[in-house]
Amino acid sequence: MNKVTAVIGSQWGDEGKGKIVDILADKNDIIVRANGGANAGHTIFLKDKKFIFHLIPSGILQGKTCLIGNGCVVELNTLEEEIRELENAGFAVREKLKISDRAHLIFSYHKKIDALEEKNKHKKLGTTLRGIGPAFADKSSRIGIRVGLLKNFSIFEERLRKNAHRHEQSFDINIDIEKEVELHKKFANEFNDMIVDSVDFLHQSLQKGKKILAEGAQGMLLDLDLGTYPYVTSSSTTSAGICTGTGLPPRVIGEVIGILKAYTTRVGEGPFPSELSGDEEEKLREIGQEFGATTGRPRRCGWFDAVIARYAAKVNGITTWNLTKLDVLDSFAEIKIIKNYYFNNQIMTSFPADLEILQSVKCETITLKGWEKSTSSIKNFNDLPLEAKNYIATIEEFTGVKIGFIGIGQERDDMIFKV
Ligand code: GDP
Ligand code: IMO
Ligand code: MG
Repeated sequence: MNKVTAVIGSQWGDEGKGKIVDILADKNDIIVRANGGANAGHTIFLKDKKFIFHLIPSGILQGKTCLIGNGCVVELNTLEEEIRELENAGFAVREKLKISDRAHLIFSYHKKIDALEEKNKHKKLGTTLRGIGPAFADKSSRIGIRVGLLKNFSIFEERLRKNAHRHEQSFDINIDIEKEVELHKKFANEFNDMIVDSVDFLHQSLQKGKKILAEGAQGMLLDLDLGTYPYVTSSSTTSAGICTGTGLPPRVIGEVIGILKAYTTRVGEGPFPSELSGDEEEKLREIGQEFGATTGRPRRCGWFDAVIARYAAKVNGITTWNLTKLDVLDSFAEIKIIKNYYFNNQIMTSFPADLEILQSVKCETITLKGWEKSTSSIKNFNDLPLEAKNYIATIEEFTGVKIGFIGIGQERDDMIFKV
């Protein structure tokens, strides 16, 4: 039986997962998303044309079977729009896309509640306002409505009305329930053939010798359990989440590719030890085009943080790194890496759970000489400037994991395979 390959964001999301999934999809049969929802924004450039995937796995451009797994939360409005855009661009989607009957649905009221909570919270999280937290809250409260129920519309409608009524009272909001029911009546018909028992589908596919690629969403530090709580998303973003979000057992996961940007970014609130400010941050943001793929918000930028990468390697069992956006550092005379955190003058041996501590750690920073040359047309590792090779070797040394792929541009071809 083939082993499943997992692609896992290893910082705070937006590391460049979409691009490597698109590349690896070529050698796989099925691409599955296992967590999150349309809070994700995975960007792929094909000959200068930009595609942003929120819910559909990034393997669709390679014409592969794509599955939205049971760990996801799905807003069918957004999904319909995404399908339409791809179809307009000439890609076949409906016959390639499957949706797990166990995935949970996001309704318009989840988005309303998300916005309300963001407004009211004295400590704003800076969510994507896609209704993610409220939908996962319903799931945890065991009142969530799953995609599979669309096949039994009378019960679906009854539960939808009950939940809408409950949320109207709890949050003092108005919900146009008739509109929601009508819309989902249409969706029940439209998506009927795409809804599958995804656990059975994936296991049968493995039995038949198919190759599966799991596309993680968000990143290590946005994980509900292991991230910088409460400044996290509401799903499992680690390699363990691939198992719970698909029904595949841990022993079938083979390679776990950790995606690391050559520097660090974060959208939304929360501590960020290597965060820069002023001109240095602005330069990274401008060259790296660090603006959210889902919300357009400017991303906060900082130097590469090896403490985060070590934590991600440990928790996810990373077998190989994909270092992305190396080219963004091409013009920097000096490049910094956070090697360790110190707290109360003591070196920290692990990534702290306590955000008060994380906020006040002192960073031990090393400075490397930049290469100040363009890397964007380089095809072989050996042709990289010496200083760039040194940067890569330093990250490997500080994290204890080898870098197998190096991103040097946004197009599909802009990837160096380091053997
Ligand atoms: P994801 O959410 O992890 O898929 O990442 P995003 O799509 O949100 O953000 C990554 C951004 O970096 C996208 O605009 C990609 O096109 C771009 N990108 C990915 N890899 C590279 C790279 O190696 N170099 C450059 N310059 N851009 C890259
Ligand atoms: P991809 O898959 C970066 C962040 C939000 C916010 C927090 C909670 O493209 O890497 P949510 O809407 O999930 O309740 O927001 O999580 N966030 C992301 N940041 N990349 C993402 O996805 C993200 N998805 C959520 O900005 O800080
Ligand atoms: Mg993104």
